[in-house]
Amino acid sequence: MSEQQNIYPVRDAIAAKAWADKEKYQAMYKQSVDDPDTFWGEQAKRIDWVKFPTKIKHTSFDPHNVDIRWFEDGTLNASANCLDRHLEKRGDQTAIIWEGDDPNDSAHISYRELYERTCQLANALKAQGVKKGDVVTLYMPMIPEAAVAMLACARIGAVHSVVFGGFSPDALAQRIIGANSKLVITADESVRGGKQVPLKDNVDAALTRDGTEVCQKVLVVKRTGGEIEWKEGRDLWYHEQVDSQPTDCAAEEMNAEDPLFILYTSGSTGAPKGLKHTTGGYMVYASLTHQYVFDYQDGEVYWCTADVGWVTGHSYIVYGPLANGGTTLMFEGVPSYPTHGRMGEIVDKHKVNILYTAPTAIRALMAHGENVMDSSKRDSLRILGSVGEPINPEAWEWYYRVIGNSNCPIVDTWWQTENGGIMIAPLPGATDLKPGSATLPFFGVQPALYDSEGNALEGAVDGNLVITDSWPGQARSIWGDHERFTQTYFSTYQGVYFTGDGCRRDEDGYYWITGRVDDVINVSGHRMGTAEIESSLVAHDAVAEAAVVGFPHDIKGQGIYIYVTLNDDAEPSDELKKELTQWVRKDIGPIASPDVIQWAPSLPKTRSGKIMRRILRKIAANECDGLGDTSTLADPSVVDELIEHRANR
Ligand code: WTA
Repeated sequence: MSEQQNIYPVRDAIAAKAWADKEKYQAMYKQSVDDPDTFWGEQAKRIDWVKFPTKIKHTSFDPHNVDIRWFEDGTLNASANCLDRHLEKRGDQTAIIWEGDDPNDSAHISYRELYERTCQLANALKAQGVKKGDVVTLYMPMIPEAAVAMLACARIGAVHSVVFGGFSPDALAQRIIGANSKLVITADESVRGGKQVPLKDNVDAALTRDGTEVCQKVLVVKRTGGEIEWKEGRDLWYHEQVDSQPTDCAAEEMNAEDPLFILYTSGSTGAPKGLKHTTGGYMVYASLTHQYVFDYQDGEVYWCTADVGWVTGHSYIVYGPLANGGTTLMFEGVPSYPTHGRMGEIVDKHKVNILYTAPTAIRALMAHGENVMDSSKRDSLRILGSVGEPINPEAWEWYYRVIGNSNCPIVDTWWQTENGGIMIAPLPGATDLKPGSATLPFFGVQPALYDSEGNALEGAVDGNLVITDSWPGQARSIWGDHERFTQTYFSTYQGVYFTGDGCRRDEDGYYWITGRVDDVINVSGHRMGTAEIESSLVAHDAVAEAAVVGFPHDIKGQGIYIYVTLNDDAEPSDELKKELTQWVRKDIGPIASPDVIQWAPSLPKTRSGKIMRRILRKIAANECDGLGDTSTLADPSVVDELIEHRANR
């Protein structure tokens, strides 16, 4: 990334009305790190508590005792914070604008309606025996019922675990088992880009896997009316269970540290981890970040294009905006359907003021040229946001100029599933922008850059990004495996949270995320563990060994490059490549589709047998001149062979 860049100063007109200008940001930031108890004790007032907390921060990153608690003696309910407290003032205001895959389908759901629908489902869940602390898995399309289901779980103290609808039956089964989930909520089919995705069939397949017996009930929303199998006694139509329920349901009083949700995400090693997020700190953090980072003003229409299956959907489609009494737009489809102008057309149709999307979506549009947005004006837009992966300055400039008509500040927001909410980002009225930089830390966030030995680096420098103290939105544990939580995040460097990201700090103290430094790759903003894809491949009869790395990809950010060593009795062929591609798609889901497969008679390994991924990454990136030291390899000739047969892309 080049240092040479334009600077976009804060606009006076934005700063004049913003929640924070430069001085206010600095003062609030200073207090948040100097005196977290006072700062967060004050901020806690932004949400409704049954019992207001007297204890604010109680956190330790000591690897012998990672213990993170915020507001620990407070009690509240997340769903009441998103619904009940708005009824008096904004019962008739639109809470959710739903835009269907088909441009002719849309709906407005008021806060009162959302409250009633949530209460009805909450009552239906109770009738099925779901209790406080039980885990409910959601495998759903982007329809209002997905938000209703999250809020209904929260209302009765059940813990939701949303699984992205693009994951395979096996991936779904793994998550149902991992969370010991009693009930799944799904739909017959989802609709994306004019095509049906068989969600219920996938659930049926998942529930044939060993270990899923714990799941006794499947609640099915009728979205398309498509044909599905039905298992009597297990499957229940959502509308039959819900429509006759009372439209009130008391909200369960939850402790601040009771779990609100589990969300699975990929790491460097092993199976996906279920991050545990709790109630009080998460709600304060999601709502505060949503208000300040997007400078959300009363009455504005806010659209986050993420799927609710990702953390961005949790914090910035559902909990943040609804806690703030906002109007949040939920889009069922894909930005390229029916035409590439769709995103802009949705902005015009619903007069969207704030648009939050991913660099991969912007690059996909850029590829269609300057005129791709000509079917819309987008003059309602005020603020743009970016999330999920580093945004390259070219894409930033294009987003600014073409989508935002050179009128809207862009907030590039860096954060992770583990963080619960935005960590490093500009505030529209407070931060001068540099395209490609996530800029400065949010309140309470203390970033630092470490070298590989764990020394803190000062000044303008490159390093590994750590966070030195806790913030309220932070995940508290990995579901059922606190030791793994400690190992993964708090053992690389003592006493700090390790993000897994590399980062540069410039002379103005701005942060520039450079990407993962571990074995996680980021494909179109989706986090994939290379180990997960490798273990899928080696389960195929023909495969002896596999190594997966990321490589630079124009649209996706990173693509998936796979080196495969076949068993002696298997013949390399294009057919087999196709078969392996299908295999991974079926095993994990379409988002894990390999971009490139290269046959590797053997893989570069150290004498102790460790695969040298650094070298594989370089070859995949076609940087074969800069391979660095290969002298520690057991057999350096392996590398020449791989370079010679480097797969053409
Ligand atoms: C990457 C998504 C650069 C990063 C909210 C992080 C980013 C991972 C940005 C988390 C950004 C996310 N700039 N990189 N603005 N946002 N990332 O858990 O590598 O799906 O560690 O959370 O995405 O992905 P996750």
